[in-house]
Amino acid sequence: MKQIKVVGKQILSGEIEISGAKNSAVALLPAAILTTEAVIDNVPNISDIRALEDILNYLGADVYKEGSKLTINSQKLKNKPITEEFSSLLRASYYFMGAMLARFKEVTISLPGGCQIGDRPIDIHLNGFKKLGVKIKEENNTYVLKADKLIGADITLPFPSVGATINILLASVKAVGKTIIRNAAKEPEIGNLIDFLNSMGAKIKGKDTDVLEIEGSLLLNEGNISVISDRIEAGTYILAGVMTGKNLKIKNVNPNHLTSLINILKEMDADIKVYDNYIMASKSENLKPVSVKTEVYPGFPTDLQQPFTSLLLIVNGTSYIKETIYENRFQNIAYLKEMGADIEIVNDTLIIKGARELIGKEVVTSDLRAGAALILAALVAKGTTTIKEVKYVLRGYENIVSKLSAVHAKIVLEDV
Ligand code: EPU
Repeated sequence: MKQIKVVGKQILSGEIEISGAKNSAVALLPAAILTTEAVIDNVPNISDIRALEDILNYLGADVYKEGSKLTINSQKLKNKPITEEFSSLLRASYYFMGAMLARFKEVTISLPGGCQIGDRPIDIHLNGFKKLGVKIKEENNTYVLKADKLIGADITLPFPSVGATINILLASVKAVGKTIIRNAAKEPEIGNLIDFLNSMGAKIKGKDTDVLEIEGSLLLNEGNISVISDRIEAGTYILAGVMTGKNLKIKNVNPNHLTSLINILKEMDADIKVYDNYIMASKSENLKPVSVKTEVYPGFPTDLQQPFTSLLLIVNGTSYIKETIYENRFQNIAYLKEMGADIEIVNDTLIIKGARELIGKEVVTSDLRAGAALILAALVAKGTTTIKEVKYVLRGYENIVSKLSAVHAKIVLEDV
């Protein structure tokens, strides 16, 4: 088991370079099989990506790695069932539904894995596929999806699901005729995927809007793309800077993707300075309490809810966070309370009374962002915090230990 130990109360200074976005890269790798060869640059070195490489290799694709650049040749790809052994490695394995449908018009795949942060059904994905002419059978958590022909359709999503937008987009690119996805998700990672598919010759209009129009094209060329910078990783380190930084420079950031976080931090009087592609953050005295609600993009991201809770622990006064996207994304709270936090969970809302002294304890990570939240709390706690089960953190944060060490955090990764 891997664990992280943090000795708190260090001041972070220096530079942290943000990696490629996990939630973009995990869609771009499956999308690569829509063509015979694709080059994806700025791919983060995280375990979720290694899991996708395993699935691609298993299906018969060749994946060449050169630093953060992946070349995926899927000329010899075979339509093999994606069993639980592979699909349980990460949630995004289900992007092979849309991608394999586009490539073979059929796929057999077991239910995906991923962080346990709520129910996470896939009804919106499946209903979208059905509209494109896909027949679906499900038995013992294994889905068999098959279409004689994928046919363009007008699809309105009941909720702008990120995953459903991506999956339907992937399948519709090779459908016959035009598909319209209404109430589509607008997260920047979807824009990154659209750029990638369009680089292959796909005809997708409506990037960054909630109506996507896809003119199906049966033949695609080689594709290439660079993964956009990870806004959630950036947000996590900005929070670290506001909690315990001194001119901490967070580099390779697109501030336009972080507007909701930046606005809230400014409302709190946080010491942050925003430049074209980097952000400076320093420990901020007299932060004001706030009320925050998670929303779909461009609203405040649910993926920053848990890290943001850790910031609110050092704010004098009572703050509120309402989680509207997932029903069970509070698994960090019990551990934060053990460290001395005063937090009450009332239905979907956290009531945080800040400025209590935090003390290092042994805590356990339950999911990716809960782990990030515990690391942030540990950075400002007195003494040593041991964070267990950090495999979840390593799924999504590239080199988190060396990035934080380089800016003077006392942090080590141990194999126990
Ligand atoms: N939902 C349904 N039915 C569906 C699909 C979604 O009811 O068919 C519900 C979900 O249960 C959830 C809400 O809709 O309550 C949002 O789900 P969405 O589909 O938008 O999320 P996702 O695609 O499963 C992605 C990210 C998540 C991120 C969310 C929201 C990836 C691989 N995952 O998940 O990232 O929280 O969008 O922005 O892109 C993370 O990085 O820590 C993470 C969990």
